[in-house]
Amino acid sequence: MTPTSSSPNVATRRDFLAGAAAATLATLTSAVHAAGSDILRIGLIGCGGRGTGAAMQALRADKNSRLVALGDMFADKLQKCLDNLKGVADIADRIDVKPDSCFTGFNAYKSVIEMSDVVLLTTPPHFRPLHLKAAVDAGKHIFAEKPCAVDAPGVRAVLQACDEAKKKNLSIVAGLCWRYHHGMRETMKRIHDGMIGDITALQCTYNTGGLWSVKRRPEWSDMEWQLRNWLYFTWLSGDFNVEQHIHSLDKIAWAMQNEYPKSAVGSGGRQVRTDPLYGNIFDHHCVVYEYESGVKLFSACRQQVGCAPDISDHVMGSKGTCHIETNRPPRGIIVAGKKKLWQSVASLRNPPHDDMYQNEHDELFASIRAGKPINNGEWMAKSTLMAIMGRMATYTGQVITWDMALNSKEDLTPPAYEFGPLPVAPVARPGVTKFV
Ligand SMILES: NC(=O)c1ccc[n+]([C@@H]2O[C@H](COP(=O)([O-])OP(=O)(O)OC[C@H]3O[C@@H](n4cnc5c(N)ncnc54)[C@H](O)[C@@H]3O)[C@@H](O)[C@H]2O)c1
Repeated sequence: MTPTSSSPNVATRRDFLAGAAAATLATLTSAVHAAGSDILRIGLIGCGGRGTGAAMQALRADKNSRLVALGDMFADKLQKCLDNLKGVADIADRIDVKPDSCFTGFNAYKSVIEMSDVVLLTTPPHFRPLHLKAAVDAGKHIFAEKPCAVDAPGVRAVLQACDEAKKKNLSIVAGLCWRYHHGMRETMKRIHDGMIGDITALQCTYNTGGLWSVKRRPEWSDMEWQLRNWLYFTWLSGDFNVEQHIHSLDKIAWAMQNEYPKSAVGSGGRQVRTDPLYGNIFDHHCVVYEYESGVKLFSACRQQVGCAPDISDHVMGSKGTCHIETNRPPRGIIVAGKKKLWQSVASLRNPPHDDMYQNEHDELFASIRAGKPINNGEWMAKSTLMAIMGRMATYTGQVITWDMALNSKEDLTPPAYEFGPLPVAPVARPGVTKFV
């Protein structure tokens, strides 16, 4: 196993880009190779909770696949993931990870990409554009967890890399998993087929309690603590209206047939999440997005303990309304006044019958085998931008247009990817924090 976090491990953004280009030559053949019935080699980058799940789902999706390489920032995380996977009976015999195919640190992704045909990108979102570009440059198929960036330069890089992937016939499946939920697909089809008429307004809410956090240990540098407690630092997570609420915003984008809003205005702040443990993100965001037609989306998300939970979406139309409950069945009900017009058969469409996390890998691997690539790049990147645009609106207190957001120069990358001092950026103050 390569160095742990305490080893000197310094790299700049320029080093990464140079490395990615070098990897290209070695691996351009994998798309071709994968189209047959050969073994597909899977590499996992980001061995946390989601990565461990994604590795299981990838292995279950294709019986001729092997997990061949693991990459994580930290050796302890990697080892835990490997131990967990080895304990899962139905996939254990296809875990072919040797000590010399385990990589840690900022550069771990390079070696994993090199050894794999399909890479699972499940680190904190900050690193997604870098890893995604390197994987596309190297000609590898990709599963990319949401969100795919934390700032506009990242979104632009992802859009470009996904275009490049099209030219190379590579599959890119996004972890915006509701798009792979059959019950949700049925619901969206009803909206698209006109059951509720023209859309007149939309609402999406993602209100929950708190999430996990990691207390600082004295031996950790600023960088190590922030990486281990990544949810709470905007540069790593994008803030939770990007990291979590993107699921809701992406469902709205889907309902709108991938039309994105022209502007956003919002308010937000940090009422109860005041301890330094919670870095610099907000604990609530309320954003009104407006579409070209004048239709508005009322979007809210909150992470505050002890408050009423609500994870739901509502699409109002000229002939009826679609109510979507995303954390419990039914997944969709369409009503006209008090009359129920349609309800999704959600009771039959939950795990194990309709596991969206499994479905996305089933479709990814089927597309690779069939040589018919899936490319979710455009809506994955634009839904990420829609969320970032909301954050720009709540952080600055200004009206943010789509073009402003897309062309924003705000780059949240730290000065260097190295374990050492990294002051926490101040919490945004609407009216004071400037749009960049
Ligand atoms: N689709 C979903 O429903 C869903 C659910 C949970 C998480 N996610 C997404 O999955 C991603 C990971 O979330 P998680 O809950 O697994 O977090 P996690 O903290 O459990 O795992 C992230 C892992 O990445 C590692 N890591 C950090 N920087 C790295 C780097 N540069 N290179 C390699 N490894 C690195 C960390 O050490 C950690 O082990 C996030 O983008 C999150 O939003 C999606």
